[in-house]
Amino acid sequence: MQIFVDSANEKQIRQLCSQGIVDGVTTNPTIMLKDGVQDIEAAARRISALLGDKPLSLEVTSNEHAEMLEQARVFASWGPAMVIKIPVVNEFGDSSLDVINQLTSEGIAVNATAILSFNQAMLATKAGAAYVSIFAGRIADEGNDPVQTIKYVRQWLDEWEYTSKIIVGSVRTVMDIQNAALSGAHVITVPPQFFPKLIDHKYTRDTVRQFNSDAFKTAQEIAAVRAVAATEGK
Ligand code: E4P
Repeated sequence: MQIFVDSANEKQIRQLCSQGIVDGVTTNPTIMLKDGVQDIEAAARRISALLGDKPLSLEVTSNEHAEMLEQARVFASWGPAMVIKIPVVNEFGDSSLDVINQLTSEGIAVNATAILSFNQAMLATKAGAAYVSIFAGRIADEGNDPVQTIKYVRQWLDEWEYTSKIIVGSVRTVMDIQNAALSGAHVITVPPQFFPKLIDHKYTRDTVRQFNSDAFKTAQEIAAVRAVAATEGK
């Protein structure tokens, strides 16, 4: 299973990459705004350089199919592993499957995004999307169970031997990450603020404190024994 960082914050991405836990990065226009990105191309190129051959997802920002295609082709040239996020429908509910299909046929990797149902994931896969981004938090916002959606999509992909990968996004709690990992996500895209919560544990700290304290006591005992031996040897 892979872990992506759901962020455009270069400092945080760099710091997480140095831990060896990052397999890629996803962004969207809201994340770009939050992280203060003004020059999207410059930021994307810098993040892409940080990632090397690991994928960076960048989202188109239009309702028009011609414009989506145009943006996608330009974005795809900004790094060696650019993945273009295409919402499965635009804000008016028009299907983007033809855009997904066209880009895929041009060899551009597509991340079909804003997926809230099994059927959307199924059709995006059929259209050729390399990734299907299931928005767990937003599915739960509507009172539905994202775990079930993730499980069904994974089951269906495996059963029919599709190579599309599930990205679980829209992470709102630490438990969303565990649930996604255990439900069959190929990738979970995690906002940076969750990483310290994932690794830290109060009792681990207490355990390490106990070990450090006992190691200190042992060192003191050894020093005391050596001091006595040195005195006796005089
Ligand atoms: C990732 O690809 C998504 O764009 C992101 O996780 C959406 O998260 P949100 O539902 O918190 O906006």
